[in-house]
Amino acid sequence: MLDKNTVHDLRKQFPILHQTVYNKPLVYFDNAATNQKPQRVINILNTYYSTINSNIHRGVHYLSQQATTAFEESRQAVQTFINARHSYEVVFTRGTTESINLIASSFGKRYLGAGDTVLISAMEHHSNIVPWQMACAEHGATLKVIPIDDSGSLILDNLEQLLENNCRLVALTHVSNTLGTINPIKEIIERAHKYDIPVLIDGAQAISHLQIDVQALDCDFYCFSAHKMYAPMGIGVLYGKENLLNELPPYQGGGEMIKTVTFDKTTFNELPFKFEAGTPNVGDALALKEAIDFMNEIGLDAIRNYEDYLLEYATKKLTAIDGVKIYGTAHEKTSVISFLLGNIHPYDAGIILDKLGIAVRTGHHCTQPLMDFYKIPGTIRASFALYNTTEEIDTFVDALHKVNLMFG
Ligand code: ALA
Repeated sequence: MLDKNTVHDLRKQFPILHQTVYNKPLVYFDNAATNQKPQRVINILNTYYSTINSNIHRGVHYLSQQATTAFEESRQAVQTFINARHSYEVVFTRGTTESINLIASSFGKRYLGAGDTVLISAMEHHSNIVPWQMACAEHGATLKVIPIDDSGSLILDNLEQLLENNCRLVALTHVSNTLGTINPIKEIIERAHKYDIPVLIDGAQAISHLQIDVQALDCDFYCFSAHKMYAPMGIGVLYGKENLLNELPPYQGGGEMIKTVTFDKTTFNELPFKFEAGTPNVGDALALKEAIDFMNEIGLDAIRNYEDYLLEYATKKLTAIDGVKIYGTAHEKTSVISFLLGNIHPYDAGIILDKLGIAVRTGHHCTQPLMDFYKIPGTIRASFALYNTTEEIDTFVDALHKVNLMFG
């Protein structure tokens, strides 16, 4: 686990953390929405645009070659990070949402038809619900949902029934953005594969907390965003198994994704370029590689252990506050605490916390069906990253007492 001094040193690498808001030291607990970037990652963007910025895969000139090599090295870094078999199974997208939309669109066109079903879960983010609703509507298929219990854990007793019913694909979050629940995806993938059903995993909330090995998981698709792993916004990854990606039609048409074009016919490029139409986000890909190096140097296990320690500390402290009800009490969780404070509206609490310098997310967290399940309008959500401290949690707890006094 990371010790106090290491965390102190790590914090120094994040310039944004060292500021006051409303004259209070910033406490940043909105890491599930996006986490902050260390200076070395920010520097990469400056260096890229100051030295080798160029369009890639197209130019014979020096800068283009440098940028192309660096971009492909970033792809290899992602490949190693998630242990994909081939670097061409790593497709760069704009983020998790685009990765899921890509598969919903291309997989839908190729495999979905009337009477088919797509299986998701009751704790999905809207970005792993709406694209499937759209694909189902387009192809006459039906969306089915794995239920959850009060703790925010999947109920898997009837999974086989849901899989048997013309199910063509399972799309499931690895970690719930609202509850923090870590789903038993390896087991679900195994059970789905018994019926030859591919599984897409939304890894947006897992990628900076858990060591991901796509071959060990045997998932068919794994999607994530760079901005939740200490890298910039605007770039993400779709991992897909080679055979499946080869079977799917392209998502968008344009430059880069073609082999030959005439006015009569176009032939498509090989993987991964078939799915990377247009100029890619080279600078952010390079910054993503730097963020991966940053995380690897610390160690995913050390990060997870420290974040678990923060979660346990915060859970204990919050439970002792009058009126706190925590949503998401599954045994396996990442460092997310969603809760309500008596009858205080989460938005009111969020405004006061903000004035005290504390950044949390309040609302439905893009999981409205989950809020309907709990019959609540939203929650206050605190989510921790490797640079957060127990002292910040103490400040947060004091602030919650103040909120209680004001509204309670
Ligand atoms: N999906 C992100 C969140 O949970 C934005 O906050």
